[in-house]
Amino acid sequence: MTFAVVALALLALVALLPPAHAVKSHDFKTCAQSAFCRRGRALAARAADAGDAWQSPYSLLHDGLDIDSAGSTLRGRVHSALYPHISFSLHVHVLPDGLFRISMDQVDGLRKRYDEAARWALHRDPPLGTAKWSRGERHIIARSTTSEGGEVELHIQYAPLRISLWQDGKETVSLNGRGLLHMEHFRVKEDAPAPVPVPAVDPAPPSGEQAVLEPPAPAQRPTAWFEGAEEDGYWSESFGGHTDSKPKGPESLSLDITFPHAQHVYGIPEHAAPLSLPTTQPPGNAYTEPYRLYNLDVFEYLPDSPMALYGSIPLMHAHSAAGTVAVLFLTGAETWIDVARPERGAGAGMSTHWVTESGILDLFLLPGPSPAALFKQYTALTGPSALPQLFALGYHQCRWNYISSRDVLDVQRRFDDARMPLDVTWLDVEYAEEKKYFVWDKANFPDPRAMLAAVAEPRRKMVAIVDPHLKKTASYFVYTQAQQRDVLIKKSNGQEYEGWCWPGASAYADFFHPDSWAWWRGLFRLGDAKEGEGWTDSTKDLFIWNDMNEPSVFNGPEITMPKDNLHHGGWEHRDVHNINGMLFQKQTALALTEREHPAKRPFVLSRSFYPGSQKYGAVWTGDNGGTWAHMKVGIPMTLTLAVTGMSFAGADVGGFFGNPSPEMLTRWYQLGIFATFFRGHAHIDTKRREPYLLEDPYRSIVRDALELRYAMLPVWYTLMHEASVSGTPPIRPHYVVFPKHEGGFAIDDQFYIGDAMLVKPVTDAGVTETAVYLPEDQVYYSYSDYTLHRGSASGTHITVASPLDTIPLFYRGGHIVPLRLRPRRSSPLMAHDPFTLVVALSTKRTAQGELYLDDGESFAYQQGELVWRQFTATKAGKKGIRIASLDKVPTHPTETVYDVDLSSKYSAQNEYAKSIEDVRVERIVVLGLSAAPSTVHAVSGSAKVALEFKWTKGSHAEGKKNQEGVASVLVVKDPGVGITKDWEIVIE
Ligand code: NOJ
Repeated sequence: MTFAVVALALLALVALLPPAHAVKSHDFKTCAQSAFCRRGRALAARAADAGDAWQSPYSLLHDGLDIDSAGSTLRGRVHSALYPHISFSLHVHVLPDGLFRISMDQVDGLRKRYDEAARWALHRDPPLGTAKWSRGERHIIARSTTSEGGEVELHIQYAPLRISLWQDGKETVSLNGRGLLHMEHFRVKEDAPAPVPVPAVDPAPPSGEQAVLEPPAPAQRPTAWFEGAEEDGYWSESFGGHTDSKPKGPESLSLDITFPHAQHVYGIPEHAAPLSLPTTQPPGNAYTEPYRLYNLDVFEYLPDSPMALYGSIPLMHAHSAAGTVAVLFLTGAETWIDVARPERGAGAGMSTHWVTESGILDLFLLPGPSPAALFKQYTALTGPSALPQLFALGYHQCRWNYISSRDVLDVQRRFDDARMPLDVTWLDVEYAEEKKYFVWDKANFPDPRAMLAAVAEPRRKMVAIVDPHLKKTASYFVYTQAQQRDVLIKKSNGQEYEGWCWPGASAYADFFHPDSWAWWRGLFRLGDAKEGEGWTDSTKDLFIWNDMNEPSVFNGPEITMPKDNLHHGGWEHRDVHNINGMLFQKQTALALTEREHPAKRPFVLSRSFYPGSQKYGAVWTGDNGGTWAHMKVGIPMTLTLAVTGMSFAGADVGGFFGNPSPEMLTRWYQLGIFATFFRGHAHIDTKRREPYLLEDPYRSIVRDALELRYAMLPVWYTLMHEASVSGTPPIRPHYVVFPKHEGGFAIDDQFYIGDAMLVKPVTDAGVTETAVYLPEDQVYYSYSDYTLHRGSASGTHITVASPLDTIPLFYRGGHIVPLRLRPRRSSPLMAHDPFTLVVALSTKRTAQGELYLDDGESFAYQQGELVWRQFTATKAGKKGIRIASLDKVPTHPTETVYDVDLSSKYSAQNEYAKSIEDVRVERIVVLGLSAAPSTVHAVSGSAKVALEFKWTKGSHAEGKKNQEGVASVLVVKDPGVGITKDWEIVIE
């Protein structure tokens, strides 16, 4: 072989290799490279070495302790034996539904600790509840109850300070049980105490009440056993050529939180990690780094890592078959969390250690005790997820970039030619002249309004990107206006901060500054805006994508903003970093709400998020790769977002980087249709991969998947509505649906859609069969061919055929699923389409389901303009069933976290309901009715009409467990009943 042939062969081989997805790990800190994390872990290591001899130096003083007369608030002083001249306040607030809020702050410190995270995260000031308090010598106990009647007690031990939650006689959460609480107080650099070289373990703890009252004299203070002998990174710290000046010195906060009975912990997004969080500390730890919460733009992130990503929700669920509890650790600062499963055998619980860089302690204990109760409790704190417009649940086609108006319209046309539904076409940064958002590149988009009108013709929408970096040039009105209003983020010396992003040198608006709010919203005004003052070339059909809002700064430390930058109120960026992105999305969402009268619901996609972001729109999992591993991890990532309040989320279908094979892309569409936010997107360097470009059979299989998504839009919309009233997420992991079934607690490769359907997406190449876990003694019907499968209470693994054209998707026995089976070009065109009801009978011949409908775009539903049906199937006679449709609103007057009580505004005769009076049920499909009916009647009022039907006998052996075969299917065509009406269909 000649050299040239070898070289060519090698080149060909390289070309065939999948693109290497290598995150530049060295761009991002490890715990050891972050001074406060290092200090936190070192503290934990000293405690572990000391074993039982270790004791927390913090204690609650008896003196001055006050509990208000309503029994709502305890106020006390905390003392640390390390620094007797420093004092801390401890506040415990009793909240309704068995929640407690625990805050700790330094009293009269040299500076104020950041205490505004709750202001941004909480929906409103939580109302106070009451508890019965009892004060003993060693403890104070507050007794309260959950709304479900469970008993909750908060035990506060004076010395050492230890707080624990007890539920029905069991300790479920303990704070500072391992003695890792440490609030580094503000100090003057020169005054820093000289390190005291004492033996590693000499806790000299306060012992009992006496020590509390008489702390050791400063001279005897043995800080080193606790804090370490060195001032490690107190006053400045460098990384990657950047120096953080740390003018305030050390101010981190460390706290151990143990869940003594939990088997799993979930939550704390965003990480590309399994749903049940793998441990980061011995024994048997899967990761060596703690989970990091620090909103970062991580290029080509790893698909299995505790590294920080774009958003942060410091909410953790701790779960076992005995119950679920949660902690919300409200901090806006960088935070690291170690997770361990201690070695005391099964049932020893989960222990966690949280270290955050700045701010007060503001911790919420959510008692659950079920995942459903937690969703309500978290929603009551941080607000309901927004109900999106219906179109936003349709398919979104994005690419970096559609390069011109012609390109955009061509993409739309090709979707139509391929008979593929589409709701939204997206524009990435190239639409904006020199990346000056709000300013169209007129060379390629000469008449944006005409383009938008053409897009809107089949009732479609567009989304354009608006990033938070503002090109620093006097010719950019958005930048100059921000400058004039003095709402730009500052450097530590008070001068305007300049960072680099897509437009080159950029400034960043400070959305913590109240003066930025109305100004920003004004930029989205329609119609009346003057040239150069608002978005003159926009229309009501253009919605917004807020990207890069961590914020991403290409030349900044860890690709973000220096921590010593300054925001409104003099707060450092360090204090508010994780909150920053949410405030940008919030103002954009409000802008879109305000731009029309009457208002329409906004759609804003954000990359960065924080607790409360669910009120403002959707998020996605950022720059994933076109690999099977990234496709797979997208499932636990979106499930984790779902259980932490982010109901509207998805991953880029196809992967942002790389060129997925047709098989991978096809499987990715089959997965993407089960995310609430469903968007195909691709990097500018990738090959075009719109689904119409696929060849058959891929093309028609993807069309089927898209049609299934649209057929299920009534299901998705109903579930998004449910999320907006109860916080229960549309997609649900096993532990949420079956909180007592241990076999499902770690499952994150299959999930439920509501509680009616189960899907196990295929995420590997060449698959023809898939194993599915059924966790209950119930029947499941395959979506594709109605094959019946029977699970068992102890859990059953079944294997189903899953060639490329088949998604392992099941109706769960006992549920009624409303579908719309007429393919349309876009979702608004379905508004008057008839429904098919699939009644998947349970083993007990029963089923139930719901359907929520409204105009899909305005806020009129909050005034009662809606249709909300409840469907039931109950036994009728020996072999038959009775299917009924009832008005759901009156039956659930209080199931709401809205500010409005629907039942008081609602009338079944509302204008919206009247507007869809013509919409009928065109088909009822009953699965699992094993005996042939002799008659089927529709009963509406006093009218009784005989209906035509077709019953097909199934092939499964009835009555035998685990016996598979095709279910019996009854089809009632055109039953003549309206979707807005009460009716009954009797099958006998
Ligand atoms: C980063 C985003 O994650 C990606 O989706 C987008 O295409 C690029 N920014 C360009 O705007």
